[in-house]
Amino acid sequence: MAHPAPVSDLPDPSVAELLAARPHLTMHAQDGLVLEGVPLKRIADVVGTPAWVYGAGTMRARLAQLQAALAGTNAHLHYAVKANDHIAVLNLMARGGAGADVTSEGELRRARAGGVAAQDIVFSGVGKTAREIRLAIGEAIGQINVESAAELEVISAIASSMGRTMKVALRINPDVDAGTHAKITTGKADNKFGIAYEDAQAVYARAAELPGVEPVGLALHIGSQILSIAPYRAAYARTADLVRSLRAAGHTVSRVDCGGGLGIGYRDDPGAPVEAFAGAVRATFNNLGVQVMVEPGRWLVGPAGVLLAEVAIAKGTAETRRFLVIDAAMNDLVRPAMYDAYHGIVPLSAADAAAPTELVDIVGPICESSDTFARDRTLPRLAQGARVAILDAGAYGAVMSSTYNTRPLLPIVMVDGDQWAVVRDRQLHEELWAGERIPGFFGT
Ligand SMILES: Cc1ncc(COP(=O)(O)O)c(C=O)c1O
Repeated sequence: MAHPAPVSDLPDPSVAELLAARPHLTMHAQDGLVLEGVPLKRIADVVGTPAWVYGAGTMRARLAQLQAALAGTNAHLHYAVKANDHIAVLNLMARGGAGADVTSEGELRRARAGGVAAQDIVFSGVGKTAREIRLAIGEAIGQINVESAAELEVISAIASSMGRTMKVALRINPDVDAGTHAKITTGKADNKFGIAYEDAQAVYARAAELPGVEPVGLALHIGSQILSIAPYRAAYARTADLVRSLRAAGHTVSRVDCGGGLGIGYRDDPGAPVEAFAGAVRATFNNLGVQVMVEPGRWLVGPAGVLLAEVAIAKGTAETRRFLVIDAAMNDLVRPAMYDAYHGIVPLSAADAAAPTELVDIVGPICESSDTFARDRTLPRLAQGARVAILDAGAYGAVMSSTYNTRPLLPIVMVDGDQWAVVRDRQLHEELWAGERIPGFFGT
């Protein structure tokens, strides 16, 4: 048989193993795959596929779990809006006591629309525009994380002109390798993020003398999908050293924003050990007398979301290569194409889930080879019309969608226990070109 060897050496977890690692998802003989208390096929029947489904109860439970792990530190969570920016998600986080970490005017406005208090918003990002800075100051958000000496001058000038004083933290680049995918590592010296560690002292001194800004502390973020606590420990130790030197130089340092980056298990692995993470925060910062902030995105919402899809075409054989072409594509969920990311795939029907397995490629309909969700995946045999859930799509899923191939953005459904509601409609094709026009000079 000429089937090439699987790309990854790790065996694919079975459906049972995937579900055992995700207690919010269960398989029932009649109802099939159930998220919290709602059968996903019921949602697929009503809203169609492809569609995103998020579990509010799951997000809430994860927020509470992380807050509980951090008990005994004075850390406050600021949910990283970029992971999933739906206003209902932001509202859920705010109700759960989390602030928001935003990186654009749009995210800032969304956070406010979702009910996050301005005071609980932190603005991070390497290239904030003057317009965004003016908005942040006008809204009186809690803190701007400054990424460069040049940005500090701009914030000072704008805040002074508005007669305001903005609290700022300097985002330092601790030059630590987070051991994650090259496209999502952010804390090494050759990344574009933050102020070089060696320059931080001078920039902090400059901030202390500039009008319109009040330096309150330091911020760092070393990357995303981090599964080991060692890089955090290393980065936090360097940050704590800097806090001590700044204080020795007479500066006030009252806050440290520890960033996000906690990874999740995309297979049947447990993800980042949050107790150990909290332990690192506690060990480094408890004796330092600083207010700690933590900015997780993926860990809070990733496992809570699924992307529902249907097999549009099944082609090929196991002897050649068997492809299942589904109705979702890389424009909907880009992570496999962009980061070679692994996402578990589970049939919605219990009968499908119990079928004998075969080796398949799960691909989308877009004419690019990268439109591939899984290659050489061991899955129960699925026929045309079978529906599946692509797991762990709650973070960096819908937020990274495009409309490539004039494919409308997908509907979003929020499940909460046994209730569910459509929280975003499927985009209409006409909406995609609603703002476009043919110039008059083309003639009639
Ligand atoms: C400054 C900052 N904070 C928080 C996050 C959230 O990261 P994650 O979703 O990995 O927790 C990011 C993501 O890149 C970020 O850039």
